[in-house]
Formats: sequence, C-alpha cells, structure tokens
Amino acid sequence: MKILMVCLGNICRSPLAEGILASKVVSKNIIIDSAGTSGYHAGEHPDKRSIKIAEKKGIDISKQRSRKFMIDDFEKFDLIYAMDESNFQDLITLARNENEIKKVKLILKEVSENKILNVPDPYYGSNQGFEKVFEMLNEACEVIASKYV
Ligand code: 4NP
Repeated sequence: MKILMVCLGNICRSPLAEGILASKVVSKNIIIDSAGTSGYHAGEHPDKRSIKIAEKKGIDISKQRSRKFMIDDFEKFDLIYAMDESNFQDLITLARNENEIKKVKLILKEVSENKILNVPDPYYGSNQGFEKVFEMLNEACEVIASKYV
C-alpha cells in the first residue's frame, strides 16, 4: 500500500500526517509520503511548530523535505489524502481519469462521525492550532492504519 498525504505547502499539516501514520505502521510493505499542491516551500524542512508538536508525541519529522505534488504521484500512490477541501479540489482538477479521481480522499472523512471536513491551515495561527491539527490527524491516521496498513 502506498499512501500520499497532501496539503498546500507541505510544511505544516501533511508532514504531520505522514509522520503520524508512519508511527502507527508496523508492516514494512507500506510507503507513506507527503507533498504540497503548491511548491512555495519546496526543499524546506517542516515548519518548526509541526516539528515541535510531533517531537512532543515522540515522532521525528525534522528530516522531511517539502515537495510539490507531481502528476506521476497519481500512478505511484494507491491513496491520496487531501487535508482540506481546497487541496481536494486542486487534486481532482489535476486527475486525468476516473481511476485517479477515485484515489483522492478527504482525510477527515475517514473518521465516520466527523462533521468537520477540513484540517484547518495552522500556518498563520498559534501553537494551539498545531495541537488541534495533531489531534485531528492522529484520530484519522488511527482509522487509516487499522483499515489499510
Ligand atoms: P500547510 O500550511 O499547507 O499545512 O503546509 C501552509 C504553509 C504555508 C503556506 C500556506 C499553508 N503559505 O502560504 O506559505
């Protein structure tokens, strides 16, 4: 199983999603990566606040590097999780056929009782925003880990 986590900048939310899911996975037969719909921060390490909240929970995401989503990712990955509806829409627009469209999912839809569909963009917010993002992604990744990996 190959899973890609996608947000806008690939420095706040999707690096956390990648690190959290990887921390829950025991099988070596799984590939987890993350990317941004934009290349604004390509080559950069995750935002310090994401690194810090992950570290607090025992997860090291400090070595990740931001990259832009590439069209080939539709072929490389089985599942592509968008952090919010804007990322979702951007990915659907890039998809070239039904098979690619089917791979794209909103990550919070994995939490069935969830009425919130968007992992809020914490970039311009406070540290508390990053705590909240961590909790939301932790819950979703728990479901993903039990379902697919
Ligand atoms: P992310 O957060 O999509 O969770 O990585 C953002 C990071 C940077 C920007 C926007 C969102 N930005 O506009 O630079």
